[in-house]
Amino acid sequence: MQIYLDTANLDEIRTAASWGVLSGVTTNPSLMAKEKGADFKATIQEIASLVDGPISAETTALDADGMVREGREFAAWHPNVVVKVPSTTEGLKAVSRLAREGIRCNVTLCFNAIQALLAARAGAFIISPFVGRVDDVGVDGMDLIREIVQIYRQHRITTLVLAASIRHPRHIVEAALAGADIATCPFKVLEQSMRHPLTDIGIERFLADWKAWQQGK
Ligand code: E4P
Repeated sequence: MQIYLDTANLDEIRTAASWGVLSGVTTNPSLMAKEKGADFKATIQEIASLVDGPISAETTALDADGMVREGREFAAWHPNVVVKVPSTTEGLKAVSRLAREGIRCNVTLCFNAIQALLAARAGAFIISPFVGRVDDVGVDGMDLIREIVQIYRQHRITTLVLAASIRHPRHIVEAALAGADIATCPFKVLEQSMRHPLTDIGIERFLADWKAWQQGK
């Protein structure tokens, strides 16, 4: 399973990219809105210069024509741009038109397996089921990943399953076990994932023993 960063913050992307673990980045309008004064096109192009992999840029039009217009524009910014469209019938229309032009789409805001199946049939490159937001309404979000993975495998569908709306490190582990191709993670969750008290205690002990040995020579 590949790891993407779910942010439009360039400092976070630079830091996570330096760890050597990033295969792509996802953004959305809410994440962009956190970057006060930033220009959308310049941000996406800067991200593409930092991470060599798919960079999702989300459309805001509600109709297929508008999504296609925005999608063509975003795709012209950089070859790694993937156009994000919502899981709606207009979104499906836009995906099938953009896919025919060779423009890759990430179908976002997916909350059930039927949306995922139809997105794939329309030609989606990525499907993004929102695990955390499903958990929020009292349903196991990871079951949605499992269902989509099973349907895609059974029917030899090559659309990539991206576990989105990741809230904690355990979500990443469960997404990997469920067979997701990608998990897109907030910076905080990724950072938290590498923290373990036994690792810190282990380092402390090794250093203390090393120092004692050096002094006793
Ligand atoms: C995915 O591509 C979305 O940007 C993201 O994962 C949404 O997550 P949220 O529920 O934390 O907003």
